[in-house]
Amino acid sequence: MWNGGGDAAPHSTFDIPHLKSLRRVVDPRLPVTSYQSLTSMSLKKILVCLDADPQPSVFDGVVAVDSGVDFLFRHGGVAAAQVRDLVYGAMFTRGPQELKNTAVFIGGSDVTVAEGLLKAATEAFFGPMRVSVMLDANGANTTAAAAVLAARRHVPLSGAIVTVLAGTGAVGRRVVRLLASEGARVRVASRKLTHAEGTCDKISRIVPGADLTAWTNENAMAAATAVEGAQAVIACGPPGVELLPKGYLAQAAGLQAAIDLNAVPAHGLGDVAPTDKATHHGAIVCYGALGVGGTKMKIHKAAIAKLFTRNDLVLDADEIYAIGKEL
Ligand SMILES: NC(=O)c1ccc[n+]([C@@H]2O[C@H](COP(=O)([O-])OP(=O)(O)OC[C@H]3O[C@@H](n4cnc5c(N)ncnc54)[C@H](OP(=O)(O)O)[C@@H]3O)[C@@H](O)[C@H]2O)c1
Repeated sequence: MWNGGGDAAPHSTFDIPHLKSLRRVVDPRLPVTSYQSLTSMSLKKILVCLDADPQPSVFDGVVAVDSGVDFLFRHGGVAAAQVRDLVYGAMFTRGPQELKNTAVFIGGSDVTVAEGLLKAATEAFFGPMRVSVMLDANGANTTAAAAVLAARRHVPLSGAIVTVLAGTGAVGRRVVRLLASEGARVRVASRKLTHAEGTCDKISRIVPGADLTAWTNENAMAAATAVEGAQAVIACGPPGVELLPKGYLAQAAGLQAAIDLNAVPAHGLGDVAPTDKATHHGAIVCYGALGVGGTKMKIHKAAIAKLFTRNDLVLDADEIYAIGKEL
């Protein structure tokens, strides 16, 4: 690192060549450390977006700009084998004290592939040479966090029975994981019991002591049975698929909160409208996909902003949920 003296300053990876001219412009009497930190403060915030889809997500780009990012470097069609060199480009261009101004966002529609990109990115880091990284492929982490926070507003989760319909998908698995971490007794429902059991097994390995049971939602009656006796239900089915038709929720004795993440008709819970936001239908407080969406966007923006506070954050499901809890 250049120490500020003489014209023959070494030009290493971490040099700031324009530092001397900046000193002339600002105030030549300033000690070199002052304008070094001034330079660091004025460094542009760069977000390197790594996306396995051929076209990187426009949605993620817009949210990043709205979160205060100065420059987006958007890479599409990224494979895990390419991540190390892309991340090296982020790690080796700024000094360790400045690396908090560069961060990596991992997106894409396939969450499993994105998890591989995250692993490759974190494996490229060593010592202080790292940048903060966030995974929100398909919006799975921010959406799951917003859904669980909606339930938590109305139901004390520790010890509560919560049913997650279609709990085997990218969003559902994260919802199950966050609920389990909160101490809820989670019923994981799927069209196939073996799928639900597989999800329970995986999450039990991530959340020690998780209280998970496998259920089916293969038809409306099975879904209603899975919801019976629960204090909350979170429906994580795909767009346009109804899991529990209108009229069923009112029959679920003791149900206090119902959340549906499917915004596309037919909705997952027939009794919940997409725009419901803490809307009471009888004794049950309901959130639809759009009702949860505002919180999801706030979490997404807060998480992007947090990336630029230090250079060693890895924001995945638990960390993004923790950010949501602070909002
Ligand atoms: N607001 C947002 O920004 C946002 C962001 C992300 C996701 N979302 C919404 O969140 C929901 C979940 O997303 P996701 O990506 O996790 O969904 P997904 O993986 O496509 O589907 C979730 C689960 O639904 C079950 N399923 C699939 N087809 C079905 C069918 N025809 N009938 C009944 N069940 C079926 C599958 O479980 P089994 O095979 O085990 O039954 C699957 O694991 C979606 O509605 C999505 O649109 C919203």
